[in-house]
Amino acid sequence: MVQNSQDRGQFSSKLGFILAAAGSAVGLGNLVAFPVMASKNGGAAFLIIYLFFVAFICYPVMLAEIAMGRRTTRNPVGAFSAISGGNPYWRLAGMLAILTPFMIAVFYTVITVWLVVYIKEIAFGHLDMLSQSGHFGEVVADPSLFAWLLGLLALMFFILLGGVKGGIERLARILMPTLAVMLVLLVIFVLTLDNASVGVSYYLVPDFDRVDLSVINGALSQAFFSLSLGMGILITYGSYFSRKDNIAQSSRMVAIADTSIAFFAGMLILPAIFAFDANTDTESLSTSSVGLIFDFLPQIFLSMESAVGYTGASMVAAAFFTLVFFAALTSMVSIIEIPIACWIDEFGFSRRKAVLLQAVLLIVFTIPATMSLGISDFFTNFTSYGGVSKSFFDLVSDVFYETILPFVGLTVCIFCAYQWKVSGLKEELVVGDESYSGSLLEKYINFSLGTVIPVVLLVVFLSTVNQIYFG
Ligand code: PHE
Repeated sequence: MVQNSQDRGQFSSKLGFILAAAGSAVGLGNLVAFPVMASKNGGAAFLIIYLFFVAFICYPVMLAEIAMGRRTTRNPVGAFSAISGGNPYWRLAGMLAILTPFMIAVFYTVITVWLVVYIKEIAFGHLDMLSQSGHFGEVVADPSLFAWLLGLLALMFFILLGGVKGGIERLARILMPTLAVMLVLLVIFVLTLDNASVGVSYYLVPDFDRVDLSVINGALSQAFFSLSLGMGILITYGSYFSRKDNIAQSSRMVAIADTSIAFFAGMLILPAIFAFDANTDTESLSTSSVGLIFDFLPQIFLSMESAVGYTGASMVAAAFFTLVFFAALTSMVSIIEIPIACWIDEFGFSRRKAVLLQAVLLIVFTIPATMSLGISDFFTNFTSYGGVSKSFFDLVSDVFYETILPFVGLTVCIFCAYQWKVSGLKEELVVGDESYSGSLLEKYINFSLGTVIPVVLLVVFLSTVNQIYFG
């Protein structure tokens, strides 16, 4: 195994790690999917289930991923391989944890390009145009997307060239606090609108009758996905984490930050929706983040015209889309960093060379994904399964985002519990945190990591496969 230690960075401090990991975790899932899921599925009842999963299922997986990375100072392939003494099957599991973020980056990039186009349109005074139904279909089928795509990729790879401290961490240090302040300001503004309180009570009053098995399943997938688990991201970020710092405590901060932002996003989105139409039936809201952000929310912002004028409404819309763009950008950087870390560790590339290689690969795959929504017939009607016609974009999203994620989480648990063993994991978790030894947390992880948690993840994996491919 070759390693180029100069090109392997490190976060400058615990705070640097927390901000970068939170930057990865906070994304479209927090700002849009979570609020809608919560309001459809019993409000506070959903929230309680979600919090339970974050604490008892996701948090242990998070610790395991970060510990694997820090122990080996390697990307996922290197980490699985080093701990298992070069076992080829485990190396394969590591490759899956590289391939997954690699492919997720493909469609995440496309969505982020749409955000850029929306911000531009709003800045040019076209909020009214964006809120016409069907306009989204025109935006995604417009070949000028490629120009924005190139600009976005140039920005992304410029940041990544700056490395862990000068690129990823610096970006998170600027954008994460900005994002939090913008979110709070928008929440305050929206809560002053008429009817906002209807949305708040819809969001927060618990309704346990709505909770069934599929809601529980959905809460777990959402929590897993929101914390950026099962993608090798935390393994890689763990490899940049100092041995002086405390993994359990830092992870707790990341989980709290991620969950708080999701919670406040609900305080923004639902009151806004109910202020728009006090009789909104949330059943009718799509849980697809994409449909909601690009089709529905522009109408909501335009409806604020009567309260704050067209310019005011456009400013609120621009602030919201910028917020989502910042969240997407910090997540995207984290996704693309994983294969880059692999090229550096496993092939001995310099960071520069690794970033260039990744840029070329990403462009090659992003082009068909961009053409999947009308530009090219071939990629738009790429395949079909589960009784539905699917584009290249859908295929990548279904396979990697929806399906493989919990599967990689499952392999991490099995790997740590049975290959590395909980004693090995503990040896790493006590570094920087003496109090881990003998703690309740240790006892819980020792018991659950090889039993309850993988079983729960397996159930989620199987039910997702069933729903998407055979539904
Ligand atoms: N965790 C992010 C969210 O909540 C999404 C994400 C997915 C980030 C994949 C990185 C990688 O939206």
